[in-house]
Amino acid sequence: MTTDAVPLIPVDRLGRRFADLRVSVTDRCNFRCPYCMPREVFGPDYQFLPRSAILSFEEIVRLAALFGQLGLRKLRLTGGEPTVRAELPMLVRMLRETLPDVDLALTTNGSRLVSLADDLKSAGLDRVTVSLDSVDPDICREMNGVEFPPERVLEGIGAAAAAGLGPIKINAVVKRGVNDAGIVDMARYFRGSGQIVRFIEYMDVGSTNGWKLDEVVPAREIIERLSTVEGLEPVAAAYEGEVAKRWRWTDGSGEIGVITSVTEPFCGDCTRARLSAEGSLYTCLFASVGHDLRGPMRDGATDDELSARIQGIWTEREDRYSELRAAHTDDLERLRGGRVEMSHIGG
Ligand code: GTP
Ligand code: 5AD
Ligand code: SF4
Ligand code: SF4
Repeated sequence: MTTDAVPLIPVDRLGRRFADLRVSVTDRCNFRCPYCMPREVFGPDYQFLPRSAILSFEEIVRLAALFGQLGLRKLRLTGGEPTVRAELPMLVRMLRETLPDVDLALTTNGSRLVSLADDLKSAGLDRVTVSLDSVDPDICREMNGVEFPPERVLEGIGAAAAAGLGPIKINAVVKRGVNDAGIVDMARYFRGSGQIVRFIEYMDVGSTNGWKLDEVVPAREIIERLSTVEGLEPVAAAYEGEVAKRWRWTDGSGEIGVITSVTEPFCGDCTRARLSAEGSLYTCLFASVGHDLRGPMRDGATDDELSARIQGIWTEREDRYSELRAAHTDDLERLRGGRVEMSHIGG
């Protein structure tokens, strides 16, 4: 398509249009965060996708171009851990050439940013979001499941900032009794740095993390605790459907965010679709089934046929899992089915 063509934007059954695509480039990760890929499940015998099952760069770019014609505004690369996929900067370059105007972001655990940040930037990546649950070495090592030291993640964040991949956001999943005592230290650490920490309510994604509601620290409580550092005031969303609720320190030392999927769900304006590494399209983070795009693509479907399939999937969409969860906290088991693991579709 030419860049000035008017996009055809599909709208789902609840009136939500499509705008964001999150592309998982691998189901593998070099970390084993217990809330995402618990070691007992993702052990040495775990069968990850074989190479042949995973979309090639050409296949990803072909699909991304089709989403580009449907109103795509932001494309986020995820995993598993996207930087374990070989030649990631090459994929970024191909995507940038195909989608010059799209916001191109990457969610990473930061472990490989020291060596990759410059290449990602020159390939055309706009910005990175780095997952880091604590600046306390012991807690951080426990929460990534592989004893990875926070100092090295912090070096990765520094390398990304130096490469111009900002504004950098730091994602911290808050789990009661595990890292919640450290949120104030975390906020203090990044205050004034220009980097934005977002505290995420621990979610019941997938079916392996043993999630319990009492392990969730509500965003309200997070804000109360952080207010002991310095005053906080709410900031308007940067764009419609923004996931994080923004707050700023009243002394001008920057911003933080909270992601309230459990206590204040934001399904009402959810514009996100997720493409798994094997080419299935998921219309919700909590979906149990995806819609295969790889099969038709490898069987010779034309661009028009693939695009019609994507539009059909979006127009049929009626997911609003987090809202349902909030309304049925007394009977959560009923809502649960064989949900896809977050490491499959990248959060
Ligand atoms: P930007 O605003 O573009 O920086 O990104 P974002 O807010 O989409 O951030 P990011 O992709 O880093 O998402 C942050 C976290 O929010 C994810 O890791 C998930 O834990 C959670 N999240 C993101 N999208 C959704 C969603 O659609 N539903 C739910 N329930 N949680 C989500
Ligand atoms: N609850 C909330 N966020 C999660 N993430 C992974 N698992 C969970 C969970 N159970 C987040 C990570 C990372 C992103 C990929 O998803 O912190 O930032
Ligand atoms: Fe890996 Fe990210 Fe999942 Fe942790 S949260 S296991 S770093 S994919
Ligand atoms: Fe969107 Fe599903 Fe998350 Fe709701 S639970 S915001 S519908 S991805």
